[in-house]
Amino acid sequence: MKAVRVPKSEAEQVRKLAEKLGVKDKSRRITAFGDYVEIPIVDGAEKFFEGYTIVEQKNPVFSKKKNLKEVLKGKVPEELIPTNYKVIGDIVIVKLDEKAKKYAKAIGEALMQINPCKAVWCDFGRFGMKRKPKMELIAGEGSVTEHKENGCRFRLDVTKVMFSLGNQAERMRVARLVEDGEIVVDMFAGIGYFSIPIAVHSKAKRIYAIEINPDSYHFLLKNMRLNGVENIIPILGDSQFVTPEGVADRVVMGHIYCHDYLYTAIRALRGEGIIHYHESTPEAVIDRPIRRVKKACGKMGKKCEILNFKKVKNYSPGVYHVVVDARVY
Ligand SMILES: C[S@@+](CC[C@H](N)C(=O)[O-])C[C@H]1O[C@@H](n2cnc3c(N)ncnc32)[C@H](O)[C@@H]1O
Repeated sequence: MKAVRVPKSEAEQVRKLAEKLGVKDKSRRITAFGDYVEIPIVDGAEKFFEGYTIVEQKNPVFSKKKNLKEVLKGKVPEELIPTNYKVIGDIVIVKLDEKAKKYAKAIGEALMQINPCKAVWCDFGRFGMKRKPKMELIAGEGSVTEHKENGCRFRLDVTKVMFSLGNQAERMRVARLVEDGEIVVDMFAGIGYFSIPIAVHSKAKRIYAIEINPDSYHFLLKNMRLNGVENIIPILGDSQFVTPEGVADRVVMGHIYCHDYLYTAIRALRGEGIIHYHESTPEAVIDRPIRRVKKACGKMGKKCEILNFKKVKNYSPGVYHVVVDARVY
């Protein structure tokens, strides 16, 4: 499948020529790569574009978004075709059933056909407190990407750090709650999941962003520069030990297994303040996060008012990722 590759400044002129000659391949989309644009043309039309670079498109992007079932019909048993996948920047991530793994290559190539992406990775889950992903490349190449969300730019390596699309609304909700001049402590900062939107969308005075995993920390620093924010203080270390005490108006505890860190969070507040406490909790004990927040406050000689309790997303069947907003005083 051929395309004419031209600098962006010439793209419009070449597109018009291809259309005038009736040789533009309408089944594929015009795609941009850095300063260049590829205009798809029908086979045999190369002769009309002498002096231009003609390329063979390995991963064309089709105009009418075909669905995976259509593309894989006859190649993969229908029941093994994934019904869901996620797109982070220009990388597709898909989970495959055990039985579907022998069709991984075909599924990966099909996903590249219907999405403008450079690689497809198979997701085997996230492990340990660092939530490190286990991934296997099934099509294309490259693992570093830039994902745009809520007006923020997140650079990351999908094989080294996780990115949960399901937390998008929560990241923005918290950023909007931050009042002018606040000091925020983000105890599980990762690549800046909360710290970056807070810095971009609020007028926080300072955000302490604490992260234990050097890979995530590396991207946190990059993302601070990418977003042009200057009020984040990055700290590499275990928040159990390095969280500053008596400084914060607000503490973000954006880790689903962090109840042991509640005492540290309360100590981080300057007198009174707000804690956003996350937990993964089974439906049967849905009030456990609230009980844990209240218990920790009690043990620290503090009172608390529960301002909000909400489900962030379904975590697994019967288990929810929830967040509690508590005013501690
Ligand atoms: C992956 S994030 C959770 C996702 C995030 N809340 C979101 O909005 O997508 C959790 C981060 O906490 C970090 N982490 C885990 N234990 C930590 C600790 N004791 N101190 C600091 N960071 C920690 C992990 O390395 C990880 O980057």
